[in-house]
Amino acid sequence: MTKDQGSNWLFDEFAHAGDEHLDPTYVRTYDRKAGTDPTADVALLRDLGLDTRATLVDLGAGTGAFALAAARFSGSVVAVDVSSAMLANLRAKLERLGSTNVTCVRAGFLTYQHAPETADFVYSRNALHHLPDFWKALALERIAAMLRSGGTLLLRDLVFSFAPGDAASTIEAWLAAAPPTSDHGWTRAELETHLRDEYSTYSWLLESMLERSGFEITSVSHSPSKVFGAYTAVKR
Ligand SMILES: C[S@@+](CC[C@H](N)C(=O)[O-])C[C@H]1O[C@@H](n2cnc3c(N)ncnc32)[C@H](O)[C@@H]1O
Repeated sequence: MTKDQGSNWLFDEFAHAGDEHLDPTYVRTYDRKAGTDPTADVALLRDLGLDTRATLVDLGAGTGAFALAAARFSGSVVAVDVSSAMLANLRAKLERLGSTNVTCVRAGFLTYQHAPETADFVYSRNALHHLPDFWKALALERIAAMLRSGGTLLLRDLVFSFAPGDAASTIEAWLAAAPPTSDHGWTRAELETHLRDEYSTYSWLLESMLERSGFEITSVSHSPSKVFGAYTAVKR
């Protein structure tokens, strides 16, 4: 679905990317703040068959910590993000490292075009929450359409595994554990912005969306805080 097809009602994912993600100054600090170690996710995908013949798509790739690490073991990687600033940061790293099997595409969950059923793996971490649930369901259908049958989605995000009635106490405990400064993590104020202005959802809603989009969920893990979730899902 694109605006060209007359969809005036299409969600503007560039306008909902999170202002900070579009800001080159913020992006310069992102790797230190996020402190991402992609080792375990790369190892998991290798266990699931990622190899030098595989095509992997990273949706909401950001500065590419995962895409770069996965590229060492993949045939090709497509790093997709709506933010030019994020992609510029990743392109600079690719140039520095001389990596030749990573393609950067400025697009989003709802606009990235991939040849049907040709991806072996799709990865997405901490990005799907930028879409409201109506659009998450469409994004997951689009992901299923790009994966070959038997292809794998590894989806990580802020996903709430507490009951709605426990929201106040669970969220308060999470916010209370936030670091005092934003150098190496997300402060209470930043997490409050996330809760107020972005679209993290409940695990039971996300799981239903995954299943309805044609995935079999093969593994689920929730953080002890009940705020983060990870799903491995195979396209049926
Ligand atoms: C919190 S960062 C996560 C980046 C990276 N995946 C990581 O784990 O470090 C969220 C990323 O999602 C991107 N993003 C926001 N909305 C998006 C959308 N609709 N489609 C694709 N990417 C999106 C942002 O530009 C940003 O780079």
